[in-house]
Amino acid sequence: MNILAIESSCDETGIALLKDTSVVSSELITQISNHKKFGGVVPELASRLHTESIHFLIEKCLKTSKIGFQDINLIAVTKGPGLEGALLIGQTAAKSLSTLLDCPVIGVNHLHGHLYAAFLDNPTLTFPFICLIVSGGHTQLIVARNHYQFELIGQTRDDAAGEAFDKIARYMDLGYPGGPIVEKLALDGNPLSHSFPQPMLRQGYEFSFSGLKTAVIQTIDRERKNNTLNIENICASFQYAVFSVLSKKLQKACHNFGISNCVITGGVAANQALKLFLTNDLEKLGNNCFVPSKINCTDNAAMIGLAAYHRFKLDKQPNLSNYTPEKLGSVNSGLSL
Ligand code: KG4
Ligand code: ZN
Repeated sequence: MNILAIESSCDETGIALLKDTSVVSSELITQISNHKKFGGVVPELASRLHTESIHFLIEKCLKTSKIGFQDINLIAVTKGPGLEGALLIGQTAAKSLSTLLDCPVIGVNHLHGHLYAAFLDNPTLTFPFICLIVSGGHTQLIVARNHYQFELIGQTRDDAAGEAFDKIARYMDLGYPGGPIVEKLALDGNPLSHSFPQPMLRQGYEFSFSGLKTAVIQTIDRERKNNTLNIENICASFQYAVFSVLSKKLQKACHNFGISNCVITGGVAANQALKLFLTNDLEKLGNNCFVPSKINCTDNAAMIGLAAYHRFKLDKQPNLSNYTPEKLGSVNSGLSL
């Protein structure tokens, strides 16, 4: 089965072609340089840039994989959550192609995509596992029992982990997106130089990063005034607080659900210090931790294609009338999977 996958939920246009579970080609155009001067993603600009990139990438993918439009058997597209206008561009392309080619189309929850990203790098990964999704918009803990048997057990009540990285970086005028910049600066800082709060440790599997962000900002203000600001130390100590919370919640979930395998995915999982920190902590307790490659942690279309493949396969005799442009649907919030 040839799957054409489209991802346009935020500031990256992604197109991929899969033959069942194998990625034949995967292309991405990032809009980071366009949004940088504004300090964050400008939704209207994102939509326009998706429009400019999407056709070019589809043609590029088809060309490199030597697959013609007529060979496409299934179209997969992100249905949300994400920026409304940006999603609309991908969905319009998917719907048009579906109608034109008389080919089924599946709308994929972006967070399912992040979970399936683990299978792109590790096809032999087995269920059950605890999945921690840490992205720019979401922080969620999920018990993944089998394909599409996902139980959301906790999530952030306010800022997502990636959002906190982006906001503190912006406050220090470091640039956008904040995550990779903070990671780099933290390498030269002392993680124990500041003792930032580790919120919600007693509140089950829920997260909150807004208070931590405020504590970091107040410290920056104070140190700026006193001329004692050491950005590297702030970044390292902030990361230490975030990683500690993520690690403790993940440990708790593994223990309470009796599941020793975990997967950490989403943009923030591209942070190599996070990977080391969580892997060390979890493995000390006898758990196995899998983190996808950097490129598969951040947004891409291959993960959307793979998530669609498994959705389609689960439907033993896929009823194609469920996969028409009219039935595409949308997910506007990440609150449920
Ligand atoms: O998953 P993703 O690409 O898009 C969303 O679904 O949101 O995640 C983007 C987020 C941004 O907040 C970005 O700052 C963060 O992932 N991020 C990182 C790193 N690379 C990207 N955070 C920490 N360290 C990184 N190396
Ligand atoms: Zn994402």
